[in-house]
Amino acid sequence: MSITGIKGMNDILPGEVETWQFLEQNARQIFGAFGYREIRVPVAEKTELFCRSIGETTDIVEKEMYTFSDKGGTSMTLRPEGTAPVMRAFIEHKLHNLDPVTKLYYLGPMFRHERPQKGRYRQFHQIGAEVIGLDDPKIDAQVLAMLSHFFQAVGITGVALQVNSLGCPECRPDYRQTLLAFLHDRLPQLCADCQRRAATNPLRALDCKVPGCIEATAGAPAMVEHLCSGCALHFDAVRGHLNQLEVPFAVNPRMVRGLDYYTKTTFEMVTDRLGAQSAVAAGGRYDGLIASLGGPPLPGIGFAMGEERLALLLSDSAATPPGPAVFIATLGSEAASYGFRLLTRLQREGIYAEMEYAGKSLKAQLRRADKLGAQKVLILGGDELARGVAQIRDMAAGTQAEVPLEDIDKLVRSAG
Ligand code: HAM
Repeated sequence: MSITGIKGMNDILPGEVETWQFLEQNARQIFGAFGYREIRVPVAEKTELFCRSIGETTDIVEKEMYTFSDKGGTSMTLRPEGTAPVMRAFIEHKLHNLDPVTKLYYLGPMFRHERPQKGRYRQFHQIGAEVIGLDDPKIDAQVLAMLSHFFQAVGITGVALQVNSLGCPECRPDYRQTLLAFLHDRLPQLCADCQRRAATNPLRALDCKVPGCIEATAGAPAMVEHLCSGCALHFDAVRGHLNQLEVPFAVNPRMVRGLDYYTKTTFEMVTDRLGAQSAVAAGGRYDGLIASLGGPPLPGIGFAMGEERLALLLSDSAATPPGPAVFIATLGSEAASYGFRLLTRLQREGIYAEMEYAGKSLKAQLRRADKLGAQKVLILGGDELARGVAQIRDMAAGTQAEVPLEDIDKLVRSAG
């Protein structure tokens, strides 16, 4: 029996990978223009990092982490997200000493043991960005402007930006008490998960998708109505800057994030085109996270986009990749050998060139050129070689002409 891949961990095949490259190139270019630089961190970290940052009572830490002991007995976890590892690296390498403001982006696989379905996988990929060292509401708006611009630039429509504020250690505890009291009266209507978590992580009940919980929490008090004056001013300013930058958004007072490190501004880019998986991108401010991990007391804000979800939204419109600039078809062994050297020379010069290696008939070679979508076919025969010429066929125009061998590079370049 042949060995198959692991459930929920996908191959990204040629034909699909072009969409991924397109997304990644756009992210690099756009994030670069906004002043972000790439950081690459390992796929595994000490388990404690995620417990301390994401939160012990979150779904991710309670149920979804790929955790194992290595041969030395260290508990390691495959990263379920990128923010905690990036903050760990930021603190460890004292990046704040280089510049008081640090803007970083990252791309790569993340791992969560969730039940796989469309848009939800066990290995998935995030493109994320983080800004450390600024608590000005302008930067919140700018991060969201960059995120919205990314969606526009890659041509993904039908997504909407939702924002909320989750308050800070000054106002959230009071709100939590208010919410707890509200939930207490409705405990029997809540699902088993929410009942269990009501005392430890009551905000999650607002995010629960079970119909009974949605109904029971319909009139729940909202965090935005219980913000302290600092948080309320911050949130007002963020909304003002978003309007100035003409970034469309809606306030969703029921949005709570699945990770505990958030403070103040939180947001999600949502769609109704992916079934149950509505968030294509998500993030927020995490002003206490770096200090809680033993770093300096610096604020931070960022987001991550799910690349599989972006690719699903783009898949209807994905462009077919361009074919070779030239396909070299040969007749006879001398021409085949000349063609092989020419092929390698063109490829070394960065021109996408192909040929048929198995000495098939000219008809078979032309069929292959057509299948690959070659723009031009160069036909080399023994007689022509002796005269120092070749035939060049323009596949789109259907025309063919004789050209001197020394002009080939120029002609091929004009196709490429
Ligand atoms: P998150 O909301 O857990 O946030 O994930 C961000 C995005 O990753 C989601 O909106 C979704 O597109 C994608 N995603 C999450 N889980 C899966 C999955 N199982 N399969 C496919 N895609 C998935 C974070 O991870 C935070 N670190 C974001 C952040 C950065 N906050 C501040 N900075």
